[in-house]
Parts: sequence; C-alpha cells; structure tokens
Amino acid sequence: MKILITGGAGYIGSLLVPQLLNKGHQVRVLDSLLFRQTSMLPYFINPDFEFIKGDVRDVETVKKAVSGTDVIIHLAAIVGAPACKKNSQLAEDVNYQGTVNINEARTNSQKMFYASTGSVYGKVENICTEDLQPKPLSIYGDTKLRAEKEVMKKGNSIAYRFATAFGLSPRLRLDLLPNDFVFNALKNHYLVVYDKHFKRTFVHVKDIVSAYLFGIENFEKMKNEVYNVGSEKMNKTKEDIANIIKQKINFEILFVDKGIPDPDQRDYEVSYKKIRDKGFETSIDFDMGIDELIRGLQTVDVANPFSNL
Ligand SMILES: NC(=O)c1ccc[n+]([C@@H]2O[C@H](COP(=O)([O-])OP(=O)(O)OC[C@H]3O[C@@H](n4cnc5c(N)ncnc54)[C@H](O)[C@@H]3O)[C@@H](O)[C@H]2O)c1
Repeated sequence: MKILITGGAGYIGSLLVPQLLNKGHQVRVLDSLLFRQTSMLPYFINPDFEFIKGDVRDVETVKKAVSGTDVIIHLAAIVGAPACKKNSQLAEDVNYQGTVNINEARTNSQKMFYASTGSVYGKVENICTEDLQPKPLSIYGDTKLRAEKEVMKKGNSIAYRFATAFGLSPRLRLDLLPNDFVFNALKNHYLVVYDKHFKRTFVHVKDIVSAYLFGIENFEKMKNEVYNVGSEKMNKTKEDIANIIKQKINFEILFVDKGIPDPDQRDYEVSYKKIRDKGFETSIDFDMGIDELIRGLQTVDVANPFSNL
C-alpha cells in the first residue's frame, strides 16, 4: 500500500516509518522538520521512501502529499498543552486547520488514521471510556478534539486516543512524564513529584506503532470508531512511577502536595476494552520501558534540544 505519514519525522513517526517500510509498504512522509530532526535520514536509501519537507498548513503541499495514497496516518501537530499554550494561533492553524486541509484533500476512498489524545477528555470522575462526552480543558485538547470530529465526520477513518507515550525514539521527547522522571533521576539524582496521587495512563511508543500496524490490517472491522489506545496495566499514579524507578536506580524523591496544575487535569483511569475487543493488546510493560529509558538515557547528555517547546 502507499501510505502518507504526516509528522513522520516525529517521536512516534520515526519509529513507524521503518516498520511500514519493512512490511513492504511505500511510505511518503510530509513533515516540516520543526525540531531540525535528522530522524528520517536512514530511509532515503530505500526507493519506497519519499520525503516532502513541507507544512500541513499549506493547501497545495497537502494536496500533493495526499494524492495517490491509499492510507493517511496524520501525526503532524503542535503536541502537548505547554507547546500549544505558548503559541495558541499556531496550535489552531496546525492542529485544527492542518487536519482540515488533509481531510479535505482526501477522497472518500482514502483511509485516514487520526492521532488523537487522552487530553480531549478533560476532568473525568470515573473510568474513562470512549462514550464519555469529551470536555477538553487545554488548547491542545480542544484543537485535537475539533480536528478529530472533522475526520470522523467524513468517514472511512479511525481515531486513536493515545495514553501518554513513553520510551525511546530517534526523535526523543523528554517532556513526557516517565521520560522526564528517568532523565531527572539519572542526571540530577533527585526528583520533585507534585500531586503524587494523580492517576495517569501510559503506552510505550512502540505499542503505538503496533496499534497502527494492527489498524491497517483490520481497518474494515475497526473503521468509523474512536479508540482509547493503551493498557489498564499502565494506569499508574505519579507516586507509582517514581517508586518503580527508585527500585532500579538510586536517587532522592521529594513529594510536594501542590504544584503547577496539569492543564489537562488528567487524573483518571482509562478503559481500553473497546480496542481489546477488536483484538489489539499492548505488549511492552512498564518495567521493560523503564529499563530501556535507564539504559538509553544514560548516554544522553543534553536536555533542551528535545523539548517540545
Ligand atoms: N506522544 C504522545 O504521548 C501522544 C499522545 C497522544 C497523542 N499524540 C499525538 O500523536 C501525534 C504525534 O506526536 P509525537 O509524540 O510524535 O510528537 P512530535 O512533536 O515528535 O511529532 C510531531 C511532528 O509533526 C511535525 N510538524 C509539526 N508541525 C508541522 C506542520 N505545520 N507541518 C508539517 N509537520 C509538522 C514535527 O516536525 C514533528 O515531526 C500528534 O498528533 C500528537 O497529538 C501523541
């Protein structure tokens, strides 16, 4: 199949691209290389790989990128509440309008995957399922939800609402909570943890890739639905995460009652039954992912180049 990945040079995309090439697909990436990342360089040797350096805000570029593809995996975005708050107009233009541009450029027969997020839900009192009415609290959640609705309205599409990703990728992100915790534990030898009882939910970045491979193979039985993507086994409090890391490396933890509030107010357990019932389960558990981070991040010297801000 011919597959377009927007934002393919990013944290998730740079692990997804080689997997799709290995499966024999033709892969076209549209990415503005916002972080000057070099994550796509290994694939230029492959004749099945094509790269368009461009912006999802540019309608002509988007039309060119979308044309002739069977499947579109739309990842390009300004990611996370802090990055969107920093430049809210850019977040609106990229996350909402950029998605509209892709969606309008595709025909009804071109399948589309939309990368949504648990941040669309806002504050949730009980177990979070896909049936809940999302009430996003951040610009990130709001732009991502409105864009998700546009894609789902057109049909022939699947939206994945991902848990917070973690793990290593060629386009490293150190703003993600487990990655940030391990990095600080290793480099500073202490960690300040706010709101330790807050319940969060996680998914390893390679399991996100697996969810896309699964979705491509099972598109017909999954289409026109929204799915939470993660695992109940990865519903953890911030205290749990700090303590799991503490069992593996030596550092000090300082628990502080009140800190900077999470703009998305994520403090809930999420159900992943809907996607499990279709046959998808994650395979990387928290221990494996934390071990990977400890081994890998020891080799990383600098913090800032990988920031999403
Ligand atoms: N990583 C997570 O925890 C997580 C969780 C839920 C949802 N998501 C969603 O998954 C998608 C990918 O996230 P990621 O973690 O890989 O983030 P990322 O920031 O690493 O990737 C985003 C990519 O989009 C590109 N990009 C940004 N603006 C662009 C533009 N205007 N035109 C073209 N390309 C542009 C960037 O260069 C980057 O390669 C996003 O849509 C995000 O909302 C991620």
